[in-house]
Amino acid sequence: MGNLICHKKGNGKKLMFEAHMDEIGVMVTHIDKNGFLRFAAVGGVSPYNCVNRAVRFENGVEGVISGEGKTPMRDWNLDKMFIDIGAESYEEAAKKVTIGDMATFDGHFAVMGKKISGKTMDDRIACYALIEAVKEIKECPNDLYVVFTTQEELGLRGARVAAQVVEPDMAIAVDVSSVGDTPESKLIDLTLGKGPSVKIRDASYIISPLARDFMIKCANEAGIPYQLEAASFGGTDTGAVMLTGSGVPAATTSIPTRYIHSPQETVHMDDVENEIKFIKKMMETEI
Ligand code: CO
Ligand code: ZN
Repeated sequence: MGNLICHKKGNGKKLMFEAHMDEIGVMVTHIDKNGFLRFAAVGGVSPYNCVNRAVRFENGVEGVISGEGKTPMRDWNLDKMFIDIGAESYEEAAKKVTIGDMATFDGHFAVMGKKISGKTMDDRIACYALIEAVKEIKECPNDLYVVFTTQEELGLRGARVAAQVVEPDMAIAVDVSSVGDTPESKLIDLTLGKGPSVKIRDASYIISPLARDFMIKCANEAGIPYQLEAASFGGTDTGAVMLTGSGVPAATTSIPTRYIHSPQETVHMDDVENEIKFIKKMMETEI
């Protein structure tokens, strides 16, 4: 599946952390006679986040997504949209890309005070937090696994397989979560800068009491602010991991994030730093 499974041997039970490496994107489904590409979503791609945005293919080919001008913009769904890679004929386009090729969105990395914005914070910012935490741990009372998973955006696929291999006694996913702190936003009780979340639920799982108690104890001992999060939407790797073997006590901690699944996902560096401290404390605490 392409997961990266890292193991730091300890004498205790198996504690697994996971964050997903994959990101949303688009896949070429058709090349027309004028060299424009039609495409399908790979993961949760909203047409609104695609309009006149730049994409980049694995081989470096760049393009811009736009839509059919005769259709009002509000009615653009992905079927009404195309990728312009600068080609002027089928033949020219087919030399650059082929059916099944995938592209990801190009974002601009912006620093806005303590907030940073760019592509693929979902979920590379959590990969970063896990790596930084691992570098800092001193004791390792648990048999520690840190897994960087694939295909989360397609249905938590990599994590499902990784959990079958590791057979963890407890598993914690690190991901990003939507916030309710922008103008006229939906009622979401999560705010940028107020700490990582202990995610009680999303559409894919309800937290195990064992994992909840462990996480809250560790957050308090680490002395970090944290937010309790109860979302009725979205899914994380926990939803898959929890249902492997005879069931795994599992949960997610999230870094609060604005504009998820856009090329400008935005996070607060205080939350990232506190997430690192939180993860480090959990890694150093016997489950
Ligand atoms: Co995502
Ligand atoms: Zn994610």
